[in-house]
Amino acid sequence: MKRQDYRLWDLPTRLFHWSLALAVAAASVSGQLGGGLMSWHGRIGVLIVGLVAFRLAWGLVGSTYARFRQFFPTPGAVRAYLRGDWRGEGHNPVAALSVLGLLGLLAAQVASGLFSNDDIAFTGPLYDLAGKALSNRLTAVHHLLSKVLYLLVALHLGAIAFYGLVRGQNLLRPMLTGRKDGQGEPAQGGGIMALAVALAVAAMAVHGAGGGWMPPPPAPPPAASTPDF
Ligand code: HEM
Ligand code: HEM
Repeated sequence: MKRQDYRLWDLPTRLFHWSLALAVAAASVSGQLGGGLMSWHGRIGVLIVGLVAFRLAWGLVGSTYARFRQFFPTPGAVRAYLRGDWRGEGHNPVAALSVLGLLGLLAAQVASGLFSNDDIAFTGPLYDLAGKALSNRLTAVHHLLSKVLYLLVALHLGAIAFYGLVRGQNLLRPMLTGRKDGQGEPAQGGGIMALAVALAVAAMAVHGAGGGWMPPPPAPPPAASTPDF
């Protein structure tokens, strides 16, 4: 097949990626600084819940190269890639491992955050479902996972630099423009109905993570009335 400039990453995948990168940077900074920024930390975190839910849905209904079944890293594909025998377009099997690892870790990071507390004034929106003791344990998990996330993001950036500088493959251009010069077929599918479905899934995830389905708080006891002598 001849080389051509073809459509690799659709617009929703690219918007997802760059929004995620900005939101994760903002969540990390606000989480570290704490204090008055914690309410923003919570809002940005719930936004990340929506982004991750969107990407999970888009992996099922999105366009060709965004679909999980297109790049799912089976052991055979990983071995073929490591032997230098893998031929394909989109995420290669090792990149796919890192993509799924990043998404899984982000899901665990936001899930633990939703139940966390900062021992001062801020709690995640689902804190009441966990109670203080479990929330403390999940807060410790949240701290630990944030360190693992930094490591994975550093590996992600290192891998992209490696492909650019050593292998001469510019992965950045397709993630910016959507287009790649190569031998792939242009991405198909991922139309407006698919987008509506993925956005609906994301909206439900944001609603649930923000506490929208929590039982209402118990009514306050009636105010003590002064006896009328
Ligand atoms: C906190 C920051 C970041 C996170 C969490 C992150 C996460 C991800 C994820 C989940 C994917 C898979 C995309 C998909 O299939 O939906 C991806 C791909 C990619 N990211 Fe990032 N990213 C971050 C920052 C960056 C930055 C700063 C750059 C640019 C230097 C970058 C460049 C790329 C590229 C080029 C790809 C495509 C890789 C490939 O072709 O296999 N990312 N990233
Ligand atoms: C990818 C998303 C997130 C990242 C990267 C992140 C990162 C962080 C970081 C770096 C800290 C400070 C940890 C430390 O002091 O060592 C933190 C604390 C915290 N985060 Fe997140 N977080 C995320 C999502 C969330 C979400 C969704 C919530 C809840 C809505 C949340 C609630 C909290 C709480 C309550 C704390 C305070 C814990 C304490 O002070 O002990 N986080 N987060």
